[in-house]
Amino acid sequence: MTAMKLSRKKIENFREFIFSWWGGNKRNLPWRHTHDSYKILVSEVMLQQTQVLRVIEKYREFIQRYPTIFDLAKAPAADVLRVWKGMGYNRRALYLKKAAQTVVSHYGGVFPESEKVLVKLPGLGTYTARAILVFAYKKDVACVDTNIRQIITHFFFHDKPQKPAVIHSVADELVPRGKAWEWHQALMDFGALAMPNAKCQMPNKKKKAIPFKESNRFYRGRIIDRLREGNLLESTIINEFQKKYGKSREFICGILTGLENDGLLARVAHGVIGLPKG
Ligand code: ADE
Repeated sequence: MTAMKLSRKKIENFREFIFSWWGGNKRNLPWRHTHDSYKILVSEVMLQQTQVLRVIEKYREFIQRYPTIFDLAKAPAADVLRVWKGMGYNRRALYLKKAAQTVVSHYGGVFPESEKVLVKLPGLGTYTARAILVFAYKKDVACVDTNIRQIITHFFFHDKPQKPAVIHSVADELVPRGKAWEWHQALMDFGALAMPNAKCQMPNKKKKAIPFKESNRFYRGRIIDRLREGNLLESTIINEFQKKYGKSREFICGILTGLENDGLLARVAHGVIGLPKG
């Protein structure tokens, strides 16, 4: 079932179609000028939940602040969270720092060239591990993000959603030998620039999202924003958020506990909270 064998011709045609489109539509993105696996990881983690335009600016700032994996590994977590400001999903920043620490302490600062080892690093999944293999080490493997999945679903399955294994087997077959780097950049540009037309005709099976302002993520983000400015009394946060957002004390305490469990908040002294030292 997972082995959907494509004909040579179909593969060749599709590669040609994508590469010829790409010839006139390449984006110039800062992480495309490096094969440094550390920088590739920074860009990939940033790109996971954040739009390219915002990432470009933050990527530059982050790399300027932490030019090497050694700089990030030894940086205090609170500082990394401050640099991360405006990106959201703050746990990503902590994972990134932890991954850097692991690579420094276990692998002398060099990312291993093995998917099996890479997926064990904090915050890395199959996609990110393979992105490192493709973009840093130019390995001939496929990595499948949302856009690439949509492209494959569109062109090979008439927009009918498929199981991940099916999509991956097609993605593997499509990678042109020796050109995995270019191929994935091309697909990502195609997904971002040319697919929206196709996408809006696709059935939208997503469940309705709750408005951001009602989500825990919204309050988590606002609390981290306050702590970026410095340590605070827990009661100050509770009072402030009760007044400003009309939330109950229990609700705010629940959010604080969640942040603490995720390592994003530290109890600094009795009743005082702040960003983690790390
Ligand atoms: N999204 C994830 N990785 C990307 C890349 N290398 N270029 C553009 N968008 C991306």
